[in-house]
Amino acid sequence: MQDIRFEQATSFKQKPQDESKMGFGKLFTDYMFEMDYSVEKGWHDPRVVPYHNFSMDPATSVLHYGQEIFEGMKCYRRKDGGLQLFRPRDNFARMNRSAERMAIPQFDEDVAMAGLEKLLEVEKDWVPHTQGATLYIRPTIIAMDAMLGVHAAHTYKFYIILSPSGAYYAGGLAPVDIYVEDKYVRAVRGGIGFAKTGGNYAASIRAGEIAEEKGYTQVLWLDGVEQKYVEEVGAMNMMFVIDGKIVTPMLNGSILPGITRDSILKLAKHLGYETEERRIAIQEVFDAAHAGHLNEAFGTGTAAVVSPVGALCWNGEKLIINNGEIGPIAQKLYDTLTGIQYGELKDDFGWVVKLN
Ligand code: PLP
Ligand code: COI
Repeated sequence: MQDIRFEQATSFKQKPQDESKMGFGKLFTDYMFEMDYSVEKGWHDPRVVPYHNFSMDPATSVLHYGQEIFEGMKCYRRKDGGLQLFRPRDNFARMNRSAERMAIPQFDEDVAMAGLEKLLEVEKDWVPHTQGATLYIRPTIIAMDAMLGVHAAHTYKFYIILSPSGAYYAGGLAPVDIYVEDKYVRAVRGGIGFAKTGGNYAASIRAGEIAEEKGYTQVLWLDGVEQKYVEEVGAMNMMFVIDGKIVTPMLNGSILPGITRDSILKLAKHLGYETEERRIAIQEVFDAAHAGHLNEAFGTGTAAVVSPVGALCWNGEKLIINNGEIGPIAQKLYDTLTGIQYGELKDDFGWVVKLN
């Protein structure tokens, strides 16, 4: 495997004094990981270097056609001070699946993993000490050709930046109110919904703004064909508890195959809950609620962890779920998942990668 070069920084940022006020994704550490791709050399020169700006030609293809992909994962500090990652290889594997869809060359997941570990070794003091805060990790690949033709670039940059972060939603584990979007769609069959690529998020911003104006935190997307079936929320997969059973939309190519989604489904089964992955009509959710069968609703995602949904607005109706409070199943899954992620509960699944 290629050696990872290291370049020493000469100036260092002030670390946050109050970790409860960091917000999400606003601060960045002193170093980053970087490697480049060219047709002649493939992926080359993996390195941990001081955090820096990029100099780009205004014609650089990522800036015009959005040929880019990214990932999101976290580094957790255990009570004993040691650090651990949660299923990082699954993030790099998903990143290569996104790469395939976006015509970006495959990278060596061992090199990415070694680069991340080296970066974290250098930046270990940046991993927050406060429960609930983490070092958010953002691997990214961008197309670097300076050229306006619409086809795959021949040069790319892979980089990883680190951001010490608090809860994704300002309210922490407090339930969020969600607006069911019935005008715009995020993804369609055959499109790029399953890939973690900027375009999906760009397509969601306008609807998010409108929802926010109406007092909602995020948008719940429906399928792009009939606008009948539940897909996912802006940064999380969606789960409902109907008559005690956890149901979630099946993976259909238009939603992101969330690593938290997969972990929650496995954990829930392990804890003895019944789970089901299938198509869920939004009408069914409202009907279940009206008949008193909808017990809970929550989202799952790396940034959001398990995020209870207190209200869903659709078709002019604001449906209050579980009195707008976190339900017992969401709470149990949150406690168990974060317990494993922070090293307080035994990991029976082989998900945790200890760094020291
Ligand atoms: N869906 C979307 C659109 C997301 O951006 C995310 C966040 O990464 C998720 C779902 C949840 O995925 P994961 O659990 O892998 O973080
Ligand atoms: C994550 O959960 O890692 C995400 O990517 C959410 C996000 C787009 C901020």
